[in-house]
Amino acid sequence: MSQGIQAITPVLLRGAKELREWVDNERILGHQIGFVPTMGALHAGHASLMQLAAQDVGRVVVSIFVNPTQFNNESDYSGYPLTPDADLELVEAAGGHAVFMPSVEEMYADDLTVKPVDMGALTRGWEAVDRPGHFDGVVAIVDLLFAAVRPDRAYFGEKDLQQLAVVRTMAAERHPEVEVVGCPLIRDVDGLALSSRNVRLTADTRRIALALPAALHRLKDLLARGLFPPDAVVMVREELMAVEGVELAYLDLVQRDTFASWMSGATGPYFAVLAATVGGVRLLDNLEVIS
Ligand code: PAF
Repeated sequence: MSQGIQAITPVLLRGAKELREWVDNERILGHQIGFVPTMGALHAGHASLMQLAAQDVGRVVVSIFVNPTQFNNESDYSGYPLTPDADLELVEAAGGHAVFMPSVEEMYADDLTVKPVDMGALTRGWEAVDRPGHFDGVVAIVDLLFAAVRPDRAYFGEKDLQQLAVVRTMAAERHPEVEVVGCPLIRDVDGLALSSRNVRLTADTRRIALALPAALHRLKDLLARGLFPPDAVVMVREELMAVEGVELAYLDLVQRDTFASWMSGATGPYFAVLAATVGGVRLLDNLEVIS
């Protein structure tokens, strides 16, 4: 537990009505509401979001909901790790006040059809290429959760940098009263970006996966040495594709908030973003390489 955060037993809320009453009551008591949306299988990266929220606002609501509409692969959805008991303990230790754990019916009634979203390259490129419809589902559920929780601030990890940019765009249009806060990516001691999916790596595939953060640091280093950015990206992409066991989906240099290309000349910061499959597990990573 980080300094200054008091562990209290969080209230478990399963229905939107209960949630509304709890939030209304906290507001009457003069508290601001911070919100950390998650799909459970919580780890230290999620805890860091809750700790930041607990330091910022009076009350922290954490949602735990494995959202079916953002999976384009049935086995990815059905195999998504579920660790509810450990999750509740983590929320408690990280200073969360309420956990919203709705059912699929509570969120979607009986209709899992979601509206397609089009934010240009932001919802068509990178993650969207291999996961068609993914951001339609993310936008649908975050929109529904914002409407249910009505937070003052909502906290998202920069590990899912494209998701963060999509959510910021959606919130600016549909929930301008919610401040979306991006929080730093957290790494394990060996350098691997924390992810709920890491539990599916074996000792061997985890060792191979360390090529991902290594590639990002190599790119940053080449840029610091003055290499022309597009050349540096191509070089590191080729090096990573040559690593046995790594199936690279993309490695790119993009502006943090818009995902505009470096070639667009947009004001930075620029992040190297990558996705790769290692041992059947899709992993994301990113690093600020030009500030
Ligand atoms: O990042 C996640 O865990 C999910 O995409 C989110 C934002 C909770 C929506 O389901």
